[in-house]
Amino acid sequence: MVKVLFVCLGNICRSPMAEAVFRELVRKEGLSDQIEVDSCGTGHWHVGQPPHEGTLKVLKKHGIPSDGLRGRVLTKEDIETFDYIIAMDESNVENILWRCDERSRHKVHRLLDFSPEIPVRDVPDPYYDGRFDYVYDLISTGAKNLLEHIKKEALHVSEA
Ligand code: 4NP
Repeated sequence: MVKVLFVCLGNICRSPMAEAVFRELVRKEGLSDQIEVDSCGTGHWHVGQPPHEGTLKVLKKHGIPSDGLRGRVLTKEDIETFDYIIAMDESNVENILWRCDERSRHKVHRLLDFSPEIPVRDVPDPYYDGRFDYVYDLISTGAKNLLEHIKKEALHVSEA
């Protein structure tokens, strides 16, 4: 099993959106028994809460299930057990790395690092400006490219 963890600050806007989008892609490709997906935040404010209504609305608009998503905080165990720790922006990367020891640093990436065709590297926080549709577009492309990367690197699936 390959384990993928999406991380943002609050775990109510970006990372639960990425979790839901990525899980749906994995399901559509018939890889649900090979890839496990989760998300969390580095801040404690929204523990136990469902995603922001902007995230729920955009997922619904694109027909992506959002049930079961609840805010939680990144733990030491997450860093040990997940294979891919995927941050939404550079400040998330910094927050993860200071909790990481040397052995786990290679697991930490930014989502858009797998999408060189996109001219930005950070998925911006929609919590303050409400740009959930723009964030969805970035996450949707980023998730597709991440899945292709994982298929080659970890599942050894070569392109047809
Ligand atoms: P997220 O957005 O990191 O994409 O979930 C945020 C949600 C809440 C807060 C910050 C960012 N907050 O400060 O409560």
